[in-house]
Order: sequence, then C-alpha cells, then structure tokens
Amino acid sequence: MGKILACINQKGGVAKTSTVSMLARELAKTKKVLMVDFDSQSTLTKLVNIEGYFDTYALQEYIYKNSMLKIFNRETVEPLDITEIVKDNDNCSSALINELHLLPSPGVKLGFTAEAVPTGKNTILKRYLNSIKDEYDFIIIDSLPSVSILFENILLAADSLIIPIQTKFNAMTGANNFIEIIDNVMADYELNYENIFILPTMYDKRRKDDKETLAEINTSYLKYIHACNYVGRSNIVVLDTIPERAVVSKSQSYGIFLQDYIECYEKGKGDLLLLLENMTKKIVKNCN
Ligand SMILES: Nc1ncnc2c1ncn2[C@@H]1O[C@H](COP(=O)(O)OP(=O)(O)OP(=O)(O)O)[C@@H](O)[C@H]1O
Ligand SMILES: [Mg+2]
Repeated sequence: MGKILACINQKGGVAKTSTVSMLARELAKTKKVLMVDFDSQSTLTKLVNIEGYFDTYALQEYIYKNSMLKIFNRETVEPLDITEIVKDNDNCSSALINELHLLPSPGVKLGFTAEAVPTGKNTILKRYLNSIKDEYDFIIIDSLPSVSILFENILLAADSLIIPIQTKFNAMTGANNFIEIIDNVMADYELNYENIFILPTMYDKRRKDDKETLAEINTSYLKYIHACNYVGRSNIVVLDTIPERAVVSKSQSYGIFLQDYIECYEKGKGDLLLLLENMTKKIVKNCN
C-alpha cells in the first residue's frame, strides 16, 4: 500500500513545490512514485513543462484529455507516466529512474470546481487517491499556500505531512497558528498522521536571522508542536536543513529536476545530492 505524503504550509514561497520535486525525483530512483499537483498555480506541472523534459503542447493535450477535474465527478483519471521522458532526456541520458508519474494541475479551475461539488467536497482527493494507492510506493501532494477547501482535501488524504519552513526573518509569523489549524482539522475529522516532518529550507549559514529562525524551529516551535493535543501524537521529525543554493532555482528555470541538473550540468558536484539522499532515506525509514 502506497504512502501518501503532503507538502504543506499556508505561507507562500517556502519551497513546498521544490521539496515535492526533489523528494519525488529521489524516491523515483528506486520506487514507484506519483506527484500530485493540487495547486491552481500549477508550478509543479510547469516544472516538467519546459525544454528539459516535455513539450508544452503535448502536456496541454494530455491535461485536456485526462483532466484532474474528472475526479470531482467521481471519475478516475490516468496519471501521466513521465519515467521515459526523464530517462530519455537528451541532456541527461544516464538518469537513474525507476518509475515517476505526475497528476498535473488543471490550473485555476481547480478551486472553483471543488466548491461546486454537491456532496463530499472535502474528500474528493482522498477518494481518488485511495482508488490508485496500491499502484504506488509513494504519492506526494504539492499544496497551495492557503487554507481552503483544496487544503482540507489534502489534509484528509495524507498519511504523513511535510512542513517546509523558510529559515528567514518573519518565517515563524503564523507558524503556531498553522499548526493549530492542522490540530483542529485532526480533531474534527479524527485524523491521525503517522509522521509530521518539519523541513527547514533555504538556509544561509552566514545570516544571523537564518540562524535565529533555525534555533527557534528546534526549540520553541518543536515544543509547541509536541504540546498540541492531536498534532503532538504524531511522530514529529525535524529533517536536515536544506541550504539556499542558486542551482535550485536555476534547474527549475530549465525545467529539469535538481538531481538531474546537478548530475548532467555540474558533474554531480556539491553537497545537495547527498543531502537529498539522506533526507529521503530518513523519510522512507519513518514511513515504514
Ligand atoms: N534551497 C533553495 N535555494 C534557493 N532557492 C530555492 C530553494 N528552494 C526553493 N527555492 C526557490 O524559492 C522559490 C519558491 O520555491 P517554491 O516554488 O518551491 O515555493 P512554494 O512554497 O511551492 O511556493 P508557493 O507557495 O507559491 O506554492 C522558487 O523560486 C525556488 O526556486
Ligand atoms: Mg508551490
């Protein structure tokens, strides 16, 4: 049975989509993985939609025929298998990959369509993912940066949560409140997450505010999480900090997964590959 991980935070630009793409790509080296773009901004979909792997027209044609919106009518939809596309990428023919699928976002219609569903509008994603869960080892959902009906769908579908937090000034504003919202949803729906992974991101060790935020995550924030009635019952894991590196946004601007970009264009150099490997191992270990 596949594990469903949701990457969430109500704050925008904290590396939710980047984390989903890095983690999914890493897991897909040996496992069968599905990425779900449940954000109307379609950032994750666009990531595989540039010159790196895929042709914009071909992807739009696929979305037209296999729109995720079908799941709102309780119909099923076939995710897009991008394994061969990644493997055969001209610039990176040695790509190590087992199986990677994507359920692309249909864009702005996502939110409107969810609102219009007559019954069971909070469990649309859960119903659909439960029907295909057995076909994957891991399903990773990319969330939008707001508390909405789509957000509630994600919380109801997930087995474990990954919460990326940018280690910058002001990053912790609203962070406790966000945990409180999750705690309330868990209470309302009697949810029990297997793991809650906290992932500090975009860390610059030279900056004082980054150091202070990281320290706050590891002390008062962690204490607050553990003290919550429902969230505190989960296995809380703080993952190793992801540093701020220009190569992350550079690889995305080329529409290439970070690992493939580093392997192909930077000869595998730097500390990020090992870091992502270790982060993924830790997540897999805790999900078993
Ligand atoms: N470790 C990193 N180092 C440098 N830049 C990064 C890093 N992680 C993410 N970024 C950049 O930060 C920006 C925001 O990242 P991303 O799109 O993943 O955030 P998000 O939380 O998904 O945003 P949104 O809330 O809009 O969905 C992107 O331009 C991305 O390339
Ligand atoms: Mg995003």
